[in-house]
Amino acid sequence: MTDDPKGHDPKGLARNTSNYGDRDFALYLRRTFMLSMGWSREALTRPTVGICDTGSGLNNCHRHFPDLVRSAERGILASGGLPLQFPTVSVCEPSLSPCSMYYRNLAAIDTEEMMRAQPLDAVVLLGGCDKTVPAQLMAAVSANVPCVLVVGGPMMAMRFEGERLSACTDCRRFWARFRAGDVDAARIERVEGNLATTAGSCGVMGTASTMACIAEVLGFTLPGTAAIPAVHADRMRAAEASGALAVRLATEKSIVRPRELVTPESVENALRVLLALGGSTNAIVHLAAIAGRAGITLDLHRLNVLSDETPVLVDLKPTGQGYMEDFHAAGAMGAVLRQLRPLLHLDVPTVTGETLRERLDREEDAFVDHSVIRPASDPISPVGGLVALFGSLAPNGAILKRSAADATLFEKEARAVVFSSLPDMAERIDSGDLDVTADDMLVLQNAGPKGGYGMPEAGYLPIPKKLARAGLKDMVRISDARMSGTAFGTIVLHVAPESAEGGPLALVRTGDRIRLSVKERRIDLLVAEDELARRRAAWVPPAPALRGWDKLWQREVLQAPEGVDFAFLRPEGQ
Ligand code: FES
Repeated sequence: MTDDPKGHDPKGLARNTSNYGDRDFALYLRRTFMLSMGWSREALTRPTVGICDTGSGLNNCHRHFPDLVRSAERGILASGGLPLQFPTVSVCEPSLSPCSMYYRNLAAIDTEEMMRAQPLDAVVLLGGCDKTVPAQLMAAVSANVPCVLVVGGPMMAMRFEGERLSACTDCRRFWARFRAGDVDAARIERVEGNLATTAGSCGVMGTASTMACIAEVLGFTLPGTAAIPAVHADRMRAAEASGALAVRLATEKSIVRPRELVTPESVENALRVLLALGGSTNAIVHLAAIAGRAGITLDLHRLNVLSDETPVLVDLKPTGQGYMEDFHAAGAMGAVLRQLRPLLHLDVPTVTGETLRERLDREEDAFVDHSVIRPASDPISPVGGLVALFGSLAPNGAILKRSAADATLFEKEARAVVFSSLPDMAERIDSGDLDVTADDMLVLQNAGPKGGYGMPEAGYLPIPKKLARAGLKDMVRISDARMSGTAFGTIVLHVAPESAEGGPLALVRTGDRIRLSVKERRIDLLVAEDELARRRAAWVPPAPALRGWDKLWQREVLQAPEGVDFAFLRPEGQ
């Protein structure tokens, strides 16, 4: 909105003036304070390019962001722009309670409003950890300010006692061995010091890397930049080139804005990529939220159709062997996209102005290492990594990462062992008295969006200690929670509607029978309807939150299939 009484469309620092009722005074005041930052008068006439910096002392994945800010500034200055760094909420996966997901929407609100309210012709978004990239993409679509995203890139794996380690698939692998008694306290402490040793996001195809790849296929980044390691000099060059591109976005007439990048076609491309990567289950939630900001519904039935047609191509942890540095060296997203080419919508735009088709034509002869990124004719799996399940236990859907699961558990009917909440699980799961066998299914309730913990990554329920010590590695686990993108196992997630909404998951009791059929895409609670009706009548909703963020969250948060976004942030009329 402009407060220019003459109806001009102001640019640069003249954009978005503060409302004192005197626009010239507002500009005079703004220049005064910008001059106090040491800029020359000439600099203040340039196109303004914001650098949205999500670095913080609590965000290890963004440790190198000062370098990226400087690199973006170089690109902006050299191209004739005025670089204006600004901070937004920094959300780092292990640093927040109850969980980082609880603050993704806060970061999205912060980013959207700062993009829109400040005098910025264009923005370079710097994001990297699990939630910052989704938050920035949600914000970008809503604000629709011209922007380009630079992801922080993955950390390097570290050599350790004859193998390589990186966060956080190896974190979980060693922790499971520690719980099972295979690894002692001294060794787990040595492991702890070698899991995350460089700047950058987790070094496997977890949520951060999956979202970086999705950002690239949606066209928000420069081509070929999703997987450049955080510590590689190319990462800084990518930030510099993105700064230069942002000046073009700030000055040229014919540019691609964020909302043009998020279309039914590009969202479908993103789903194809997610499936081919064997990527994170969290990406489904984030992509639903990003698409939702453009008024697009992510259809889980459609996901199943795509999953049956899309091969898994990359051999990366947590489902395979390699690390993100291997993916980068093997040809990264360009190689994946070329293999998927017949399945993709090729005429979607990208932020550079090039279509996906033009990019792939240009890169036709680029290098690919097929030991890491397989040809479509010889995939890791002929079908995609994720499937949606429906049935009486999850009428609105649930997600299973079949590529990270034990296929021998896919067709199974078993007894449920229920934990009513995260504290209940923490208290009982390792008890020697827990009535559980390897043949049971573990069920966790009240860990969904409204469960009080912000839909944490608690869906990876630990194997009860007594079963782990007996050598059990996997069992069916069901919840309305999420799971880390770095985790693995036969884990049914995002059950909707969730327990705290009174969904069928809230009605399960220990001893009930549950039937899982991945072949039929079903998950059913085998309890008679009259018994369920009795339980439903006795169900008590959670106590209302009293104030602040908790209250806003509880009132506005949507279910997993809608991306756990806030209802009031969707486009009007949605
Ligand atoms: Fe930031 Fe894993 S903790 S990407």
